[in-house]
Amino acid sequence: MNILVASAELAPFAKAGGLADIVQFLAIEWEKLGHTTIVVLPKYQFIDTEHWGFNPTDLILYVPISHWTEFARLWVGYIPNTNTKVYLIENQDYFGRSAIYGDPNEYPDNDRRFIFYSRAVFETAKAIDFYPDIIHAHDYHAAFTMAFLKSQYRFDPRFSKTAGVFTIHNLAYQGIFDPKRAMEFSTFGMKEFYPGSWFEHHGAVNSMKVGIMFADKITTVSRNYANEIRFPYFGEGLHDVLAHRGADLIGILNGVNYAEWSPENDSNLFKSYGIETLTEGKKVNKYELLKSFGVPEEDNYELPLIGTVTRLAEQKGIDLITYCLETHLQNNWFRFVILGSGEKRYEDYFRYLQWKYPTKALVHIGYSNTLAHRIIGGSDFLLLPSRYEPCGLTQMYALRYGTVPIVRFIGGFVDTVEEYNPEKLTGTGFTFYQYNADDMSFAISRAFNYYQKEPHWSQIRRNGMKMDFSAKRTAEDYIKVFKWALEKIGRI
Ligand code: ADP
Ligand code: GLC
Repeated sequence: MNILVASAELAPFAKAGGLADIVQFLAIEWEKLGHTTIVVLPKYQFIDTEHWGFNPTDLILYVPISHWTEFARLWVGYIPNTNTKVYLIENQDYFGRSAIYGDPNEYPDNDRRFIFYSRAVFETAKAIDFYPDIIHAHDYHAAFTMAFLKSQYRFDPRFSKTAGVFTIHNLAYQGIFDPKRAMEFSTFGMKEFYPGSWFEHHGAVNSMKVGIMFADKITTVSRNYANEIRFPYFGEGLHDVLAHRGADLIGILNGVNYAEWSPENDSNLFKSYGIETLTEGKKVNKYELLKSFGVPEEDNYELPLIGTVTRLAEQKGIDLITYCLETHLQNNWFRFVILGSGEKRYEDYFRYLQWKYPTKALVHIGYSNTLAHRIIGGSDFLLLPSRYEPCGLTQMYALRYGTVPIVRFIGGFVDTVEEYNPEKLTGTGFTFYQYNADDMSFAISRAFNYYQKEPHWSQIRRNGMKMDFSAKRTAEDYIKVFKWALEKIGRI
C-alpha cells in the first residue's frame, strides 16, 4: 500500500507529545510490513536539517490559498535508520518559527498555517509523483486534507482512488476558526459555510469536525476512548458529530517501539536490567536517580518514589497532584520526581515545591529524553491522574520497566492498566475513577500496601513487564482499517 501521512509532529524531528512518537512508530512498522510510507511535515525552523540529513530538492510547490497561489520548497530526508522518506515543506512565513503550535499560546494564524500545510500535502504528492492509496491525517492540524481529498482533488487521477483516514489523538484541540478566514484560505468559500454544514460547529469553523465528517474512516488511539467520546462527558462538544459517524469510528490502541523503550538495552539508564534482574536493576536506577537530584545518601532511599513525565497541562490532572502533594510530602509518605513543561502556573508550583522540599520534591522543568527514560526506569510508581487520556504512552513504558502505574481509570488507561488483585496475584497497577484528589490518594495508599511486600511486589512488577503493547500490532490494525476505507470507496 502507498500511505501518505499528514502530521504536524514526527519524532525525532518535531515533538510536542505522543503524537510524534506514534506517527514515527507506525511508519517504521509499515515499512517492515512492506508498505511504502511517506510523511509530510512542515519545515519548522527548529528542525536541525543538517544534523538529521535533510536536503533541499529543486521542487517548488504551488499551493492555492484563497484566490492566489503561495509557494513552498520541498526538502527530503529519512526517518533515522529506515528507508521511509520524510518531506519537509519550507515556507518561512508559516513555519519559520520557534514552536509547532505557538509559544506559549497558539499562533493567531494557525488557521492559515495548517490549511496551507494541508493543501501542500497534495501538492507534495503531485511534485514527487506519488499515488497514495491512503491519506492518513492526524489531529486538527491535518484535518483539512480530508476535505480537500473529497473536493478539489477528487477528480485528479492521482487521488481519485485514494481513501482518507483521520486519527484523533487529542479531541480537546479542535482548530476552531473564524469562518471568514478559514473558508477563504481553504478556497471553499462562505457558500459552504451554513448551519449544519460539515465545516460549521456553533457558528465557527471546527477543523476537528471537518476531519471527522470528510474522512472515510475515523480512528482514535484506544478502544475505550473511542466509546467515551460518543457521549458528552468526554466528547468535548463533538459527541453528536462522533456518534453520527459512529459506524466508521474505530479505536486502535497505540503501541510502543520496544527497540527504544526496553530496560534490557536502554543506554539512557544508569544500568540496564530485565525481568530476572529486576530487583537489583531497579534499585541501582532508583539510587542513581536520587543521587543525580542531590538527595543526600544518609536520607532514606527506601521511601517509595513516585514519578511522572508529562506535559504540564490541565489534561494531565496536575490539579489533583497540586491539591494534595505538599501534605503528603510533609507526612513523609513518599518522594516525588517530575519531569515536565507547559503551563506556567504548574511550572511555578513545582519550582516552589522543589525550593521548599529539595530532597523530597525532585523537579526538572524542561524537556529531556534521557531523563524521561531514567525517571520511568528509576521510579517505583508512575502517577497519571489525567482528566481525559485518549491513550497515553508513559504508562505502557512504565509497565515494561517494572514501574507500577497509578492511573485514573478512564481513556486509554482502561485498555492498558489492570487493577492489582492480591488474591489472584493478577493485575498491573492501581486505579481510581472519580476526578478527585482523595480518590487518587486512596489509590496511592492501596499501592503502598504492596510496596516491597512479597510476593506482591515482585508479582505486580513482573505482570507489567510481561505485557506486550508492541507497535507492530497497532500498525497491522491500521492496515485493516485502511482496507475497510478502500472498501468503502469501492476500491476493493
Ligand atoms: P501526550 O501526547 O498527551 O503528551 P503521551 O503519554 O501519549 O501523552 O505521550 C507523551 C510523550 O512525551 C511520551 O513519550 C513522554 O515520555 C514524552 N514527554 C512528555 N513530557 C516530556 C518531557 N518534559 N521530557 C521528555 N519527554 C516528555
Ligand atoms: C495525544 C493524547 C495521548 C496519546 C497521544 C498519542 O497527545 O493526549 O493520550 O497517547 O496523543 O496518540
